[in-house]
Amino acid sequence: MSDAGEFVPDTTALPKLRASAAACRGCGLYRDATRTVFGAGPKSARIMLVGEQPGDSEDLAGEPFVGPAGRLLDKALADSGVDRARVYVTNAVKHFKFTRDERGKRRIHQKPSRTEVVSCRPWLTAELAAVQPELVVLLGATAAQSLLGTGFKVTQRRGEVVELPGDFTGAHAVATVHPSAILRAPDREKAYADFVDDLRTAVRVLKD
Ligand code: URA
Ligand code: SF4
Repeated sequence: MSDAGEFVPDTTALPKLRASAAACRGCGLYRDATRTVFGAGPKSARIMLVGEQPGDSEDLAGEPFVGPAGRLLDKALADSGVDRARVYVTNAVKHFKFTRDERGKRRIHQKPSRTEVVSCRPWLTAELAAVQPELVVLLGATAAQSLLGTGFKVTQRRGEVVELPGDFTGAHAVATVHPSAILRAPDREKAYADFVDDLRTAVRVLKD
């Protein structure tokens, strides 16, 4: 099975990683998407946020979490006392996966397959190695299962502080829901409050 591994340069320089990711063909998703959406934020970040994959707005802008989910995330970070400018924000999968509506106009988000998530993981692990965050916040099941395995159930374990396995021991991780799920929730206010609670719990692990 092909993956992103052969495209990932042996470096911890984020600009080099980002430039190489632009040419990744580690899975089929590069074909229909506009561009690779690599992570963004300072190398010095103590917190890394991981989403699922870029959406329509991110695919066009080339930056993660700049659309509706990103606006909700910005507000939730502010409400948790976190400055987004000091956070590194990325996704488990770097290309937008979508289908078209019947008229072929609107692009509709499709969940990435397990194979695509695993194919793209070398970029995420390269970002982890480069940034070496103290805390990784996993937004939704795709991000959580990319790093914690398919047995990890966000619904049961959201807000729990766990350790990242493998080479990243020492980094704390907290999984929570995806901001898009809050936008769709029947009780949006409660879903938002629970999300902010998880973020607050997560940032408490930072030793200052
Ligand atoms: N949803 C994600 O998971 N990531 C983005 O960057 C935008 C929306
Ligand atoms: Fe490469 Fe990831 Fe894009 Fe697939 S989704 S082509 S692995 S960057």
